[in-house]
Amino acid sequence: GTTRHYHFDIRYQTVTRLCHNKSMVTVNGKFPGPRIVAREGDRLLITVVNNVQNNISIHWHGIRQLQSGWADGPAYVTQCPIQTGQSYVYNYTIKGQRGTLFWHAHISWLRSTLYGPLIILPKKNVPYPFAKPHKEVPIIFGEWFNADTEAIISQALQTGGGPNVSEAYTINGLPGPLYNCSKKDTFKLKVKLGKTYLLRFINAALNDELFFSIANHTLTVVEADAVYVKPFKTNTILIAPGQTTNVLLKTKSHYPNAAFLMAARPYATGLGTFDNTTVAGILEYESPSNNHHGPVVSLKKLPLLKPTLPALNDTSFATKFSNKLRSLANAKFPANVPQKVDKHFFFTVGLGTNPCTSNQTCQGPNGTMFAASVNNVSFILPTTALLQSHFSGQSKGVYAPYFPTSPLHPFNYTGTPPNNTMVSNGTKVVVLPFNTSVQLVMQDTSILGAESHPLHLHGFNFFVVGQGFGNYDPSKDPSNFNLVDPVERNTVGVPSGGWVAIRFLADNPGVWFMHCHLEVHTSWGLRMAWVVLDGKLPNQKLLPPPTDLPKC
Ligand code: C2O
Repeated sequence: GTTRHYHFDIRYQTVTRLCHNKSMVTVNGKFPGPRIVAREGDRLLITVVNNVQNNISIHWHGIRQLQSGWADGPAYVTQCPIQTGQSYVYNYTIKGQRGTLFWHAHISWLRSTLYGPLIILPKKNVPYPFAKPHKEVPIIFGEWFNADTEAIISQALQTGGGPNVSEAYTINGLPGPLYNCSKKDTFKLKVKLGKTYLLRFINAALNDELFFSIANHTLTVVEADAVYVKPFKTNTILIAPGQTTNVLLKTKSHYPNAAFLMAARPYATGLGTFDNTTVAGILEYESPSNNHHGPVVSLKKLPLLKPTLPALNDTSFATKFSNKLRSLANAKFPANVPQKVDKHFFFTVGLGTNPCTSNQTCQGPNGTMFAASVNNVSFILPTTALLQSHFSGQSKGVYAPYFPTSPLHPFNYTGTPPNNTMVSNGTKVVVLPFNTSVQLVMQDTSILGAESHPLHLHGFNFFVVGQGFGNYDPSKDPSNFNLVDPVERNTVGVPSGGWVAIRFLADNPGVWFMHCHLEVHTSWGLRMAWVVLDGKLPNQKLLPPPTDLPKC
């Protein structure tokens, strides 16, 4: 592979959207940030220089970081943040992966403005498992807040209430024509007749899963979270924060005399308020002006056709869509689903509460403070990095290796919620011997309402072997697991009012964060970490930290 160098200058930049000026933290003054393009097998050296007042860390979402856990990025998990005036070189090699991923800040809510595509092309002369597209287009969804998102989350954490919601969603940084004062900030996809385009979708929004559709066009899904899937056709895709989806778009063979709106709006199942607005872009056909027999039309006068999107809480669509995602599972791209399980875990995930610690009345349910937990543990980030403590053998006082492997007080998760909604706070981890084959069932608790939680695991891809509604039944449900061609990914939605089962092989030594990719849930504690111990062979060991690793 090649070594590719990137320079990320973290600095302020004034950006205007919805007629609102905002000084924001950016990479190289760009919003969204720069696109990283590399090939499978390449080494990336990304120098991040912090020229703002905030502490910074960057995560390469979906990169497995085999033996390079120091480059993973979540603040206080694999590294101390990069402080003002400091820099850090993220150094890693992309092994056995190709597809669409993205990078984003991994500290507080800074990823609202610090994100960009990370595109991994196959090795030279290795084709896609589908015909070569005419063009490839990254489409990254984001969320625009008029206010400073650091102020929004710190206020929410102080008052215990839900944070203010965004003013708009964005496509490649642009809210589009359905918002006030936003017409000129519209993403336009200009296409030719009769061609196939590869659209690389990334959901970098902070807090919302999104439905997306293009009027009068069918999409063929070919990849999810940088793993090829069996192609299937759909009018709409569902994409959660932290997920990526590649689709093929075949354009019409005759000039359509219309332009087509593409639009995204949320899939929202939780309680409370959310941004229910719609971001839109426009798909435009190049007018066949060189065809003298063709119609002469001015683009401005073309009718604009609109797509139909599922209802905001359409869980039935969400279920059908996720059931269609299947690994290729062929000779070239086998699905190495762990067939036997060494360790079974059952995690409840959901919201809960903490007692009010403010001197005013707290804004959470019944005067409490919102919290969120895994097996009722609301994870507290340490003040030093977990990976450093683990590597140096000094974990005492930093984390406890006693994460509960099943809920302490099981209850009917989808029936009447329990009276006691309190979480317990702690910094607990699961310790796994090298090469443990793990099955993890995650159950939505529905304590403060059923809700879909997109859970993201660092350092691994996992196979989604089963999902269902109601309470998981260990005596019945495993017999329906798909161990043949389940989708392999890094972020999966725990169904609203249901459960999902995943399997992965813990073959990557290090400390790996797992959390809900709805940022507010992460902030409330819906996060935990896995410590994977070294194996015996030299290539099964975590390498020592780089010398420029930031200090806390
Ligand atoms: Cu995309 Cu831990 O995050």
